Amino acid sequence: MTYDDLRKRLEELIDPGFNLPFKAVNGIKKLVIGPTGVAELEMYLKDKTKHEQAVKIMIIKLVKIELGFPGIKIDFFESEFVPEGEKPIKYLAIASGKGGVGKSTVTANLAAALIRQGKKVGIIDADVYGASIPNILKIGIKPLSAAEDERMIPLEKDGIEVISTEFFMPPEKPLMWRGPMLGKMLIHFFTGVKWQDDIDLILIDLPPGTGDVALDVKTYVPKSKILVVTTPHVNASHVAVKAGIGAQNIGHEVIGVVENMSYYFNICSSTREFIFGQGGGDEVARKLGVKLFGQIPIGQPQNGDFLYTGKEEAGKIYNDLALKVMKEMDI
Ligand SMILES: Nc1ncnc2c1ncn2[C@@H]1O[C@H](COP(=O)(O)OP(=O)(O)O)[C@@H](O)[C@H]1O
Ligand SMILES: [Mg+2]
Repeated sequence: MTYDDLRKRLEELIDPGFNLPFKAVNGIKKLVIGPTGVAELEMYLKDKTKHEQAVKIMIIKLVKIELGFPGIKIDFFESEFVPEGEKPIKYLAIASGKGGVGKSTVTANLAAALIRQGKKVGIIDADVYGASIPNILKIGIKPLSAAEDERMIPLEKDGIEVISTEFFMPPEKPLMWRGPMLGKMLIHFFTGVKWQDDIDLILIDLPPGTGDVALDVKTYVPKSKILVVTTPHVNASHVAVKAGIGAQNIGHEVIGVVENMSYYFNICSSTREFIFGQGGGDEVARKLGVKLFGQIPIGQPQNGDFLYTGKEEAGKIYNDLALKVMKEMDI
């Protein structure tokens, strides 16, 4: 049995996520036959978590039993293949390092501004410690329904589709989930949601910090890009730099920085008051080697809600942010 024969047989197997042979979906990442005859294999697989076990057994049967190789080592990676005519889903994760800087507020307002530009947008609320997107958008929580293929159908408000950890929590109970359990929930958010057709962009509201969830994003949405939110204050900008560098180190592209709570516009004196200091956004952008996309003042939408309309001053800043994000994400 030669290398070429083995490769050919593997390529004929079906990737169940695509229902296409591995050859057609560039499924073989690496195939080496080691000095002792052990086949070392890295495979791309669509919906890896769902199909990994079955495909592994199928491959082991083929390689060891049918073809008689003395051993096999396989690793699976989430497939990045996009079938012809299908649009790949684009993801932008919003990271801050520190909590309370307005990450969720910016995420929701950016989503609303993208909708104003005619884009189709979803939000994955991955902030398990402080899921606030349903609250900001005033989405009434109700049980999710499932599509024919068993994927979850997200809830929707003002055109923004949302999937949130909050939908899976008993109300008023603090979340005790961590580590692996949390990872499992997020996998479903990344692979088990049926978003609207031709969705342009999914925003991911990350938990504060630079930890596990960022790594999960890297595993399941390797091409996700990152937008960093900070306040002008050094305490926040310092941690935002860390979060941004952490993301860059694991291979994510940071597209830009948003500074939130930049100033308070005093209408009596018509001056900007820099309550939390100045320069945080610039500093973060400089250290990450990206642009400062915008500075959002301290304030509240006129309707007392969390979402600005496109006509309010801050709403216009979000419009501008949306245009910059559209350019960077090529949507
Ligand atoms: N530009 C702003 N002006 C005034 N309040 C803001 C602004 N941005 C956010 N907030 C408020 O600050 C608090 C924290 O914002 P939130 O978006 O939940 O932060 P994070 O997601 O980073 O923890 C919320 O009460 C929110 O309404
Ligand atoms: Mg938040």
